[in-house]
Amino acid sequence: MQIRLDTVTADYRVGPIRSPKILNAVSTTVKSKSFSAVVGHTGSGKSSLLKLTNGLLLPTSGQVEIGDHIIKSENPKKSVKAARKKVGMVFQFPESQLFAETVEKDIIFGPLNFGMSVEEAKVIAKEVIVQVGLEVSILKKSPFSLSGGQKRRVAIAGILAMNPDILVLDEPGAGLDPKGKKEIMSLIRSWHEEKGLTTIFVTHDMDDVALYADEVIVMEKGSIAFQGTVRDAFRDADRVRNWHLELPEARRFQLKLEKEKAVSLPRVCLTLNELADVLIEVGLA
Ligand SMILES: Nc1ncnc2c1ncn2[C@@H]1O[C@H](COP(=O)(O)OP(=O)(O)OP(=O)(O)O)[C@@H](O)[C@H]1O
Ligand SMILES: [Mg+2]
Repeated sequence: MQIRLDTVTADYRVGPIRSPKILNAVSTTVKSKSFSAVVGHTGSGKSSLLKLTNGLLLPTSGQVEIGDHIIKSENPKKSVKAARKKVGMVFQFPESQLFAETVEKDIIFGPLNFGMSVEEAKVIAKEVIVQVGLEVSILKKSPFSLSGGQKRRVAIAGILAMNPDILVLDEPGAGLDPKGKKEIMSLIRSWHEEKGLTTIFVTHDMDDVALYADEVIVMEKGSIAFQGTVRDAFRDADRVRNWHLELPEARRFQLKLEKEKAVSLPRVCLTLNELADVLIEVGLA
């Protein structure tokens, strides 16, 4: 399912007070079944961009299209409800939103809210708990007795249980150890493939972008500074620095090597394996 933003401007309103424009006339299309990373300096509007996709933040002008559902400032209620059925949103540190006395109750909460029967929802809970790499027996436990990584998986399972077409995740790997982070990112990538989802995730880790994403959206001060393939995003090191971003490790290493050896390798390398292949190809290894 495709997402389209058409000249969307948005701000936050707390009582009568309005923040300055947080997103400024943003237009973009995120293609159906694409896997995109949203990156950018802190405060650039990444989380706000995600919130627009399920009506947590409403446009003050312009419109957000989730498939055929159009969210505008004038008619939000009905379209937001429809969009929420399609867009599974995983917030930053989602485990802080676990609340029920058992993992199962937590997972079935969303599906029940959308009108599923308890029996159906319990069957789905069993399926999704396995999909996030946990044992069925964990369903009977209290979510508060689990490790950080397990809680994160339970929270994501609760979103998968609603069978979304679009999966939106705000820093899904934040705060996990490298192994836990790698496992979560690989799981997200494999659901993306298996279920034909449209996936968008926010990250501060450019190696995650290089390893898992196909497309990149770079946010800068409430606007999209760049949208394109991962390889194009990391081609020009100066531009990346101007976005206040780092390069992925392999690309950084590649540029250092090119400088030291006074060579120019034939393509942008995103992983160390790619770099090794290119070095063999040109006879430098
Ligand atoms: N609930 C809110 N009320 C008022 N202003 C907000 C609110 N949430 C975010 N903002 C402001 O909106 C701007 C964009 O915030 P946003 O959370 O989208 O940035 P971000 O790119 O996700 O940053 P980070 O990398 O730190 O998570 C910031 O200036 C922030 O202060
Ligand atoms: Mg954020």
